[in-house]
Amino acid sequence: MWKPKERIKHSLLEGAWPSRQEAEESPLFHPIPVGPIQLRERTWVPAMVPWRATEEGFVTPQVLRWYERFAQGQPGALVVEATGIRDVPSGPLLRIGHDRFLPGLEELVETVHRASGGRTQLLIQLIDFLAVRRRPEPEKYLRRFLEIRQHHREALGESLSEEDLREILVTLPQEKLEDVLSKRELESYRFGFREKVTDLDQEHIRELPQRLPDLFASAAARAQKAGFDGVELHYAHAYTMASFLSALNQRTDGYGGSLENRLRLPLEVYHRVRQEVGPAFAVGCRYLSRDCLPGGSEVEDAMFFGVELARAGMDFLSLSRGGKFEDAKQPKIGRAVYPYTGPSGYECMPTAISDALGPFGRNIPAAARIRSAVRKAGMETPIVVAGGMSTFEQANEVLLTGQADVIAAARQSLADPDWFRKMRLGRGDEIRRCIFTNYCEGLDQMHKQVTCQLWDRLDLEEAGLARSHDGKRRLTPPSWEPMGKD
Ligand SMILES: Cc1cc2nc3c(=O)[nH]c(=O)nc-3n(C[C@H](O)[C@H](O)[C@H](O)COP(=O)(O)O)c2cc1C
Ligand code: SF4
Repeated sequence: MWKPKERIKHSLLEGAWPSRQEAEESPLFHPIPVGPIQLRERTWVPAMVPWRATEEGFVTPQVLRWYERFAQGQPGALVVEATGIRDVPSGPLLRIGHDRFLPGLEELVETVHRASGGRTQLLIQLIDFLAVRRRPEPEKYLRRFLEIRQHHREALGESLSEEDLREILVTLPQEKLEDVLSKRELESYRFGFREKVTDLDQEHIRELPQRLPDLFASAAARAQKAGFDGVELHYAHAYTMASFLSALNQRTDGYGGSLENRLRLPLEVYHRVRQEVGPAFAVGCRYLSRDCLPGGSEVEDAMFFGVELARAGMDFLSLSRGGKFEDAKQPKIGRAVYPYTGPSGYECMPTAISDALGPFGRNIPAAARIRSAVRKAGMETPIVVAGGMSTFEQANEVLLTGQADVIAAARQSLADPDWFRKMRLGRGDEIRRCIFTNYCEGLDQMHKQVTCQLWDRLDLEEAGLARSHDGKRRLTPPSWEPMGKD
């Protein structure tokens, strides 16, 4: 993973854990309405893909066990991983694009509600993504995948046959190839072909604004039917909806360019979803406080989006940052480009090796500005912030100073799914603290079952323990039993 050039090693934040009474008095453990639902506390486990679904996208016993374990920690809200809204194969990612996925999802809802004792509101993140192909063998790309066009002929010889042109391309030195291939072709050659929302020459890309509202709405209706408490529309990171919001979106059909046009489809999707699920079901979105890319959206753009999304009626705005394809590392041949490997990926999931700003709460100043813009416009929509949240003092301070309304922690919750509960019970000194190495993220990148290095080798002899495919890692953290009254 990319790291800032300063390479400053940051220690974990110090700070006392609260006593039970201090926790009771902290806004972190006070309820908050999120549209039609109420969180019992302002703690939130954001979406994390654990790579435990079947190849066809169905819920497995391991998916149930994964979410059950987070639910035992009783966060105010738990968001199920990015779940595909289309009925197309997408590997072991959960899917919700057809009614056949409903029984598994219903079981997931029951499992979480039971394991949290009804204390946790369960949302599911709905995602659409475009095609990303693996990086090809250079020769194979030039011989098979590259479409021969006029600019190749002009550069190499108008009268040559396609076969001869390809033969020449294969033998060209890199610098010459850079002159002959277009910018887009070079990108496909070096990184693998990737669809973009700006590919208006492709009918299915052109028609995204016509198709996506219905796809998101049907998926949301299914989530409602399965018993979820709400949905989080995935408007963040490298995926379709975030690409519409991005300043890099220069579509010329009214869905790109100006802020209003970039927001048009996200609003249309929201309205169609709301029409389908009605007012009693929570609908919010996760989007970026900044793209963290040259030429990408900045916090001012996100302030505008936040105000308009809140005005439209979104029940919450959950803020992440970065996580883009555009600055990702070149993948190895045969692998697909992965959006969290460049500087914007670092902003999304910063590690302990960092710059002077450090990994803890990089997203807070931007979240505070977005919240302030939303409040100034007269809306009380809760703002959820994530990114390096891992201590009581940090979380408490963010809430007390009105920089955000809900504290989301992904990796700290993976390291210890009971951490919010331990704080609430005055047992913070028992928390297993995330050390922000991104071992878990490395597994995610390889599409391997995600676990945490702090617990995946513990008590491997435990009876009935589910292990990773290679048999070397446990798949869920050891259990923790709160003693006395909860
Ligand atoms: C293994 C893993 C999988 C993730 N999957 C998702 C996802 O499905 N959707 C999403 O919006 N963010 C995803 N994220 C990003 C987290 O939700 C979160 O924004 C990020 O890790 C920063 O928060 P943290 O510092 O509390 O970990 C994932 C993160 C990790 C570590
Ligand atoms: S592997 Fe564990 S300790 Fe390392 S970053 Fe992930 S959650 Fe934190």
